[in-house]
Amino acid sequence: MKIAVYAGTFDPITLGHIDILRRACRLFDKLILAVAEDNYKQTLFTAAERCEIAQQAVAELPNVEVKPFDGLLVDFCRREGAVAIIRGLRALSDFEKEFQMAQMNKNVAPEMDSVFLMTSPEYQFVSSSIVKNFSELGQIPDGIISPCVAEALLQKFHTAK
Ligand code: COA
Repeated sequence: MKIAVYAGTFDPITLGHIDILRRACRLFDKLILAVAEDNYKQTLFTAAERCEIAQQAVAELPNVEVKPFDGLLVDFCRREGAVAIIRGLRALSDFEKEFQMAQMNKNVAPEMDSVFLMTSPEYQFVSSSIVKNFSELGQIPDGIISPCVAEALLQKFHTAK
């Protein structure tokens, strides 16, 4: 069974991520959506919330499992028996960082390959930050997040505290 890991902060998951995941599902037998528990980013949602939201958003994809991870991504991949790391490329500006990460990961785990999928044109401008930014200012975006994500953002930003 060929397993691949698609890792990220997913704060929150968007349809751009799901587009990559759906296409990766056709290439591998099993996909693990690995939610980074703790990285350099300040997150809106806790790791448990990000996992729960992602779980709901990918429920229709039968060969996807959502799991939290911390520490080095390649260590997690090895523990899960994965052969590849999936990454999405949105624009040329993503390339430099991705190239560096792929080289570093290859350096410490030569048996692991990074597989890059081009983001579909309709999601090229999407990022989790822009989704949060608009949501906080009262505009829950349409067509770029799942309904369960919209609901979670609404609750986070706009329910009476
Ligand atoms: N559609 C929509 N948005 C996308 C996207 C797509 N296809 N691809 C990327 N993005 C967005 C993400 O939502 C994110 O937006 P944000 O910055 O507004 O939150 C941004 O692009 C960057 O995403 P990504 O490149 O996946 O970074 P990340 O910070 O979410 O995750 C990790 C990076 C967790 C995979 C990486 O830091 C890691 O592996 N950490 C573990 C520690 C480790 O091994 N470090 C060594 C790595 S060399």
